[in-house]
Amino acid sequence: MRPIRTQEYVHLQDTYPPTGLSDMNDRSDFVVPDITTRKNAGLSHAADYTLPQPIERYSQADHATWATLYRRQCAMLPGRACQAFLDGLTTLDIDADRIPDFERLNIKLQAATGWQLVAVPGLIPDDVFFGHLAERRFPVTWWIRDPHQLDYLQEPDVFHDLFGHVPLLANPVFADYLQAYGKGGIKAAGLGALPMLARLYWYTVEFGLIRSPEGLRIYGAGIVSSRSESEYCLDSASPNRIGFDLSRIMRTRYRIDTFQKTYFVIDDFAQLFDATAPDFTPLYQSLAGLPTLGAGEIIEQDTVLNAGNREGWADTGDV
Ligand SMILES: [Fe+2]
Repeated sequence: MRPIRTQEYVHLQDTYPPTGLSDMNDRSDFVVPDITTRKNAGLSHAADYTLPQPIERYSQADHATWATLYRRQCAMLPGRACQAFLDGLTTLDIDADRIPDFERLNIKLQAATGWQLVAVPGLIPDDVFFGHLAERRFPVTWWIRDPHQLDYLQEPDVFHDLFGHVPLLANPVFADYLQAYGKGGIKAAGLGALPMLARLYWYTVEFGLIRSPEGLRIYGAGIVSSRSESEYCLDSASPNRIGFDLSRIMRTRYRIDTFQKTYFVIDDFAQLFDATAPDFTPLYQSLAGLPTLGAGEIIEQDTVLNAGNREGWADTGDV
């Protein structure tokens, strides 16, 4: 799930885009994508953009699309996705054959970490998105992509939002991190710091890698819900892989139209939570005067696990 305005988030590979952030609260730019309009025809949502999951609208083809995507990803994720993600799939008993019933899933998620899924029509405004996260509610687009869109979709759908994001919500430390992020988003909006916080979300929640005794593993939802990026991020010599560094990430631009040029690697989820626990206000102030860094740039302070060979990199287009 992601909020509005970051309509540029178009991932040309498998998924679409992550939750990015925008400049906030100005809903004059709220452009509802065509597919969202089509899928939600005749439905209405509450002021907080939630609606009852319209299960009756799922066709057999929709469930088949879920099953295809689920099997395809699960076949390749062992040895690639982090154990916490794989454990979450099991703990939450996420359906393989049909689009999960959110209410049923919520019973297990509530028991695990106190989080809840809420169905939403699609993209939602930033302030609403952050408000849900701060209350341990994860907004999930209820509809699924069409069968001809298995590998390409501009908007987040239920496969990305649920399969990609929800398993890690069963992990207590990650669950706390995401709630803290929501609270931070509300605050950052008031400080004009959303672009910095958006980069943190991008390089962790959506495209993060984590160390394990057996090697690097994926935890980012934008990767685990994408067949091609699940291979690329670990196997390709092209991208940089750099140790997690909060202030550095907040300066780093990213790719919205290709695979990432750089992946940031955390040691564990505690590192992520601990780094983001302090008040970011002074950090925002100190970073405001510094230039941003290109998506593929390596700087002296970096802990470089792998310097990419830059193959296939576009020279322009970092956002
Ligand atoms: Fe996402």
